[in-house]
Amino acid sequence: MSSKDPQSSPTADQASGATGSGLDDALAAADALQADIEAYAIDSADALEAFRIRFIGSKGLVKGLMGRMKDVPGPERKAFGQRVNAVKQSAEKRFEEAKTGLVQQEASAGPDVDLSLPPAAPRVGSRHPINIIRQRIVEAFARIGFAVEEGPEIEDDWHNFTAMGTPEHHPARDMQDTFYIAGHPDRVLRTHTSPVQARVMESRKPPIRIIAPGRTYRNETISARAHCVFHQVEGLYVDENVSFADLKQTIDYFAKTMFGEDTETRLRPSYFPFTEPSAEVDVTCLICSGKGCSVCKHTGWVEIMGCGMVDPDVFENCGVDAERYTGFAFGMGIERIAMLVYRIDDIRLFTENDALFLEQFRSES
Ligand code: PHE
Repeated sequence: MSSKDPQSSPTADQASGATGSGLDDALAAADALQADIEAYAIDSADALEAFRIRFIGSKGLVKGLMGRMKDVPGPERKAFGQRVNAVKQSAEKRFEEAKTGLVQQEASAGPDVDLSLPPAAPRVGSRHPINIIRQRIVEAFARIGFAVEEGPEIEDDWHNFTAMGTPEHHPARDMQDTFYIAGHPDRVLRTHTSPVQARVMESRKPPIRIIAPGRTYRNETISARAHCVFHQVEGLYVDENVSFADLKQTIDYFAKTMFGEDTETRLRPSYFPFTEPSAEVDVTCLICSGKGCSVCKHTGWVEIMGCGMVDPDVFENCGVDAERYTGFAFGMGIERIAMLVYRIDDIRLFTENDALFLEQFRSES
């Protein structure tokens, strides 16, 4: 029964009735058992269970002591029975006390943690990559005197299209898939930041030197390369004697500031309804430095923006004296710049709010 119990003692085992006879022997066995019960060390849940099995269990030593009743002469049996009961009660009392003690000990020990471990790093928020790049663009232009302007995202047809050289039914409207506001045929989600040009020219006299960062919308199928919500930065410079050379120099400055001193720019003829002449700006591929890679499709160049000299018709539409003033404008997609700078190959990552993606920009903030 208790052969595996490390605390088993020969004295107590005598309680099972293996030896001796008569009342004296039986009482001696009871005393020995009582002593064992008191001396038994209960310092763990396992020891508590071993105690229970050894003394109180259905095959325990208290039961065994009771078995010695047959050795006790009849008149003495009552006294012996009381003695056995007392031993039994003291065993049960010890059991309950030890159990309570263990429960209290466990509760005060607290949770099972290694206090020497370093703490888990707190998850600190970070700025969004689009916000970081937007800020870098704004800062680059602020250094050469461009002030920030903003315009509404829900724009009217006039500012988004008509003033910008794209009257109704003009085929150039097809260049941009437009979200119209239901019930308001005159209202659109702006398809570019160019309407801010018109708003600024309408409201103040040159010289004008502004950039206008903001959110733009086009009804595009969402893919790795295109999204229906994205961001642009518009630039506008209007004054007397502004030339195409000024445009080229400004863009050169920006490209070197944004992408590094070794960056070169080239202008390719293009078309926009609000600039004439118009151009698309390429910079030497920042991934392969112009040697050719998959990002630049092995041309060594990547496109970063559209630009051109402000069309005199746009000046007319906005109340600027086209005889006196000339100007240039440019517009770039912030997502595109961010994808180049951070080597991001899927535009959808910017709007998915995946913490693992966003956390990578923490050190940039
Ligand atoms: N608004 C044009 C676009 O969204 C970009 C642009 C801006 C081109 C200013 C020329 C001048 O593509």
